[in-house]
Amino acid sequence: MKRAEDLDVTGQTVLVRADLNVPLDGVAITDDGRIRASLPTIRDLLARGASVIACAHLGRPAGDDYAARAAGGPSLRPVADRLAELLGQPVTLAADVAGESASVIASTMAPGEVALLENVRFEPAETSKDDGVRGELAGRLAALADLYVGDGFGAMHRKHASVYDTPPLLPHAAGQLVLAEVAVLRQLTNSPARPYVVVLGGAKVADKLAVIGNLVGKADRLLIAGGMAYTFLAAQGHQIGDSMLQAEQIPQVTDALADADKAGVEVVLPVDHVVADRFDSGAQPEIVPGPDIPDGKMGLDIGPATRALFARKLADAKTVFWNGPPGVYEFPAFAAGTLAVAEAISAVTGLTVVGGGDSAAAVRHLKLPAGAFTHISTGGGASLEYLEGRQLPGLAALEAGS
Ligand code: 3PG
Ligand code: MG
Repeated sequence: MKRAEDLDVTGQTVLVRADLNVPLDGVAITDDGRIRASLPTIRDLLARGASVIACAHLGRPAGDDYAARAAGGPSLRPVADRLAELLGQPVTLAADVAGESASVIASTMAPGEVALLENVRFEPAETSKDDGVRGELAGRLAALADLYVGDGFGAMHRKHASVYDTPPLLPHAAGQLVLAEVAVLRQLTNSPARPYVVVLGGAKVADKLAVIGNLVGKADRLLIAGGMAYTFLAAQGHQIGDSMLQAEQIPQVTDALADADKAGVEVVLPVDHVVADRFDSGAQPEIVPGPDIPDGKMGLDIGPATRALFARKLADAKTVFWNGPPGVYEFPAFAAGTLAVAEAISAVTGLTVVGGGDSAAAVRHLKLPAGAFTHISTGGGASLEYLEGRQLPGLAALEAGS
């Protein structure tokens, strides 16, 4: 993959596809980690005399056409403002993605200036399954610039116009964030030091099952917690009360457990829980001392025995990958499990990688010391798909001849 740092950019306009998909509370950014992670590449290009046009998505705008999506938002306005603060210079936000406003800005920018296009998902073509439809938008994006830099690691698993179809239309290279992320993930996939322990939490069982299947051949131990654990417990015949359940996934979960058993991979599930009668930060927490959860209660965190068990299973690890919080850490009464897992991983000497928007936001939210982990990835789905051994469309496009 060609590096952005090796491109001759002086006097050139560079389109930088970044991942600026930050969590918002209304229009307030609650975690700006992805914006900060995008700064090195943008700063380097500016310092070398380029004009930078950044392109990114925010959330998943709804609506059949551009007008409906732009009216419903979210606009990248708060992101443009934060980016300007962090860069210490103005960032012009285009009024559209690749229309009149973007073209005027692109043709009048001076070296050292930065502009941001509006939310690229306002264009329904961005996520279209039709190559021709995506290609038309890619053409309009490419027309704005002389060069393309792919630095949105978190979106590399998306076969989208700005990620996949635009790089072939311009001389292109990978930004510093993408190169750093790939270097770490490569270490995890190529002969990791053992024991290699993977901790999976979060809610999306379907998304993570494919990873489990692939990790069974690689990791020595899988610790499973969070929303996905209840489907595993249900598959083993436990009572899970009103906890989150993906009933349709039980057959795959059962297969994954059997595969792990055959491969000699240890799967560790919660042995106790913190439950409540509703999903609410004000709900009364209650400890259930065994794996079964009674009717009328839902599991919202791992219990104290599970925290201790997970800590023991992590104590001798030499490589750790953690994706997905083990509990609802946003609610203080249900944050102890996430904190315990984070602390146990931070005590490991070896390669420790936290992957995923939620997990990264969780460790920042819990205010763990900087340097507690080897690497905090900006990519959730992207890092998981990389570890699965799948080819990421965005990386493939950057690797193909420039
Ligand atoms: C993410 O938040 O994981 C990336 O920005 C990709 O967003 P998406 O899941 O909406 O495609
Ligand atoms: Mg996400």
